Amino acid sequence: MLGKACWSIVALAIGKACGSIINEDVAVLGGGASGTYAAVRLREDFNTSIVVIEQKARLGGHVDTYTIPGINTSVEYGVQTYFQYGAATDFFARFGVEIGVFPRRSLTPINVDISNGALLSAYTPPSMGATGDALATWVNLTEKYESIMEPGYWNFPAGHAIPPELLLPFGEYATKYNLAAAAPRIMAVSNVGIGGLKKVLTLYVMQAFGAPIAKATSLFSPKGNSNSLLYQRAYDLLKDDVLLESRVAEASRELSGIRLVVKREDGTTWLIKAKRLLVTAPPSLPNLEPFDLDKQEKAVFSTWTPTWSFAGVLKVPCIPENYSVSYISSASLPSDHLALRDYPFTLRFDSTGPSGLGLFRVLFATNYTITHAEAKVTISESAQKLVTAGTFNTTSDCKVDFVAFTDHNSILWRQSVEQIKAGFVQKLYALQGHRATWYTGGLFGSDYTSTVWALTSTVLPKLLKGL
Ligand SMILES: Cc1cc2nc3c(=O)[nH]c(=O)nc-3n(C[C@H](O)[C@H](O)[C@H](O)COP(=O)(O)OP(=O)(O)OC[C@H]3O[C@@H](n4cnc5c(N)ncnc54)[C@H](O)[C@@H]3O)c2cc1C
Ligand SMILES: *[C@@H]1O[C@H](CO)[C@@H](O)[C@H](O)[C@H]1NC(C)=O
Ligand SMILES: *[C@@H]1O[C@H](CO)[C@@H](O)[C@H](O)[C@H]1NC(C)=O
Ligand SMILES: *[C@@H]1O[C@H](CO)[C@@H](O)[C@H](O)[C@H]1NC(C)=O
Ligand SMILES: *[C@@H]1O[C@H](CO)[C@@H](O)[C@H](O)[C@H]1NC(C)=O
Ligand SMILES: *[C@@H]1O[C@H](CO)[C@@H](O)[C@H](O)[C@H]1NC(C)=O
Ligand SMILES: *[C@@H]1O[C@H](CO)[C@@H](O)[C@H](O)[C@H]1NC(C)=O
Repeated sequence: MLGKACWSIVALAIGKACGSIINEDVAVLGGGASGTYAAVRLREDFNTSIVVIEQKARLGGHVDTYTIPGINTSVEYGVQTYFQYGAATDFFARFGVEIGVFPRRSLTPINVDISNGALLSAYTPPSMGATGDALATWVNLTEKYESIMEPGYWNFPAGHAIPPELLLPFGEYATKYNLAAAAPRIMAVSNVGIGGLKKVLTLYVMQAFGAPIAKATSLFSPKGNSNSLLYQRAYDLLKDDVLLESRVAEASRELSGIRLVVKREDGTTWLIKAKRLLVTAPPSLPNLEPFDLDKQEKAVFSTWTPTWSFAGVLKVPCIPENYSVSYISSASLPSDHLALRDYPFTLRFDSTGPSGLGLFRVLFATNYTITHAEAKVTISESAQKLVTAGTFNTTSDCKVDFVAFTDHNSILWRQSVEQIKAGFVQKLYALQGHRATWYTGGLFGSDYTSTVWALTSTVLPKLLKGL
């Protein structure tokens, strides 16, 4: 930090502002999985000065840890587990966070009709053997395309060279390769297919559940600690260079450097001067609104599809402990695994423990615009339907108590076949370095913690070139 000053930047509508000037090599927008990783690597491994701008009061993005009051136990309701890929385990080791095999709770799974909450015993899930066989085929198929999709799309083929089967609706592709038995697992892990999996392009299913996750034979998590510990320790290390509860108000970007006016919630204002900007927050139009997008950038970033998804910890009195309740579409009867999500929303409740507290993790997502309040209403009504339908033999009301609730609304690739053939992926990657701005994070590759870290490792050397 280089002291206090007042300034007015031509081209910035904000006029004259006063505050500290921060002069760094790289400004990092967003301090979630990829932003935290990038900041640590840049400062500690590449001797580059940084500043991180994060809108929340903490680092960690989609990691959401609920600490149960009074007892020293926490429940993870966002990111839960990790798989080894790239340098994932090294990053935990670097912060002294001990990891172990994820201790999966053994739950009693039931499927209920998403329209009325009644037990759907007429749906037969695939056997373990069938699931395993279909996943083995899927691993083979994804490996064939791993070099063009992981990590990131640096080598993705243009137009005519895109393998045509990647642009088939997944329903057709799955039938061709007999993959239906893998669909429940693919959807549960990756959350792909809200509204129906069959019509989603195979490219997007492969993006959601590609070779690294398909091949992962075991999942790990921090031993006895919360997932937030990693990010707390990263914050302790970086805190002099992190602006929390802060957002960019105005920006100018040239190849020669960038200027950002950053405001914290309490009104504190800074002028950041940096040589490069690394965008790790989702590149949605609202997030990039202050950045004065040019035509080339707008053309790319205006093609995302918004998503609505929520996670939380609830007390659901009508569901017995140790149950996992999946709401599925009756279109799947008797065993159309690809049709499980043929409905405008998805919902599941999983008992979290510790025993006796009646806590459940909820995952809820829609294919239509929805507010927090409306999401809570739909979740509560869906729980009540379990009572109405007699699913758990209880007659008392099922008043849901939301003890923690957050949204993970974001954006998704749902460009048409024509847009992909017209070079969307190349146009997206052509923005790397454009106007001294670089990108990483879930939208630029495969959206898991270890894969965004691996992607970030490929972006950093390019960003640093000529700094
Ligand atoms: C419910 C759920 C469960 C998941 N479970 C797992 C799991 O078990 N394992 C796994 O590997 N992956 C999991 N994922 C995926 C994982 O969360 C993502 O792969 C990862 O978070 C992507 O990292 P990122 O840096 O791209 O985005 P994020 O981690 O979301 O980080 C983006 C950051 O940018 C900040 N930000 C956004 N807009 C702005 C702005 N305008 N200004 C400043 N800051 C901004 C956000 O607050 C956030 O901190 C899960 C995702 C969800 C939604
Ligand atoms: C790190 O960068 C600073 C400033 O550019 C320089 O003075 C220092 O020597 C560098 N340290 C290492 C270990 O490269
Ligand atoms: C996967 O590929 C390997 C090697 O190419 C082959 O031996 C194996 O039979 C394939 N497995 C499946 C399930 O397709
Ligand atoms: C949402 O899902 C429903 C049910 O599958 C489907 O009919 C509808 O077309 C979907 N809407 C959008 C916008 O995808
Ligand atoms: C809480 O649990 C953690 C991890 O199990 C442990 O390291 C810590 O000492 C505990 N704190 C208290 C106050 O018991
Ligand atoms: C739930 O499972 C745990 C073990 O994981 C067990 O200790 C507990 O008694 C079970 N609760 C009920 C209500 O069955
Ligand atoms: C509810 O009661 C029916 C009939 O008595 C029984 O078959 C079923 O297993 C019960 N369901 C649960 C979840 O206890």
